[in-house]
Amino acid sequence: MSKLGRRKFLSIATSVTGAVGGIFALTPFISSFQPSKRAKALGAAIKINIEKIEPGSIVKVIWKGMPVWILHRSEKMLDKIDSSIDELRDPNSELSVQPNFAKNTFRSIKPEYLVVEGVCTHLGCAPIEKFAIAPADMGPDWKGGFFCPCHGSKFDLSGRVFAGVPAPSNLRIPPHRYENETTLIIGENEEEENA
Ligand code: FES
Repeated sequence: MSKLGRRKFLSIATSVTGAVGGIFALTPFISSFQPSKRAKALGAAIKINIEKIEPGSIVKVIWKGMPVWILHRSEKMLDKIDSSIDELRDPNSELSVQPNFAKNTFRSIKPEYLVVEGVCTHLGCAPIEKFAIAPADMGPDWKGGFFCPCHGSKFDLSGRVFAGVPAPSNLRIPPHRYENETTLIIGENEEEENA
């Protein structure tokens, strides 16, 4: 190889090494933004800004191809939450699917926000929201909740199923956590951060 050719070769080899070194240096930084193995298995997490969800309203999103609802419960709704407790099949969510942090009356991290899968636990129909108190079609004892039109299952404002309907368990609660006051992440659990 001529002197000039050798110099060119050395200079190209140095630039390639430099570029590869650059990629390696970046890798740990980039990988810190990748979902964890568990999150990947569950499906990519999604972020939702909940700031504009008014009390009493519901927002529906899709996670892993499945409807997930975020209900901002009003004070009035929260006051009614345990008013039908004696009529529920699984009031303490012993037989139902939810992360541990949602095994409470509100089935949530923050009482005012219910994050729940919009899929009936009977045969998978989509329940509809029935938030009015005692509407004609639900009867005088109805305190607000969800109704599945397929076979008549009823759920309260925490997604807890009433006894005597075909659905065997409460609506499922997906993994979720709050990144901050206004950002909800669906697809990652609070517990996951410490796992
Ligand atoms: S699918 Fe909801 S009651 Fe049957």
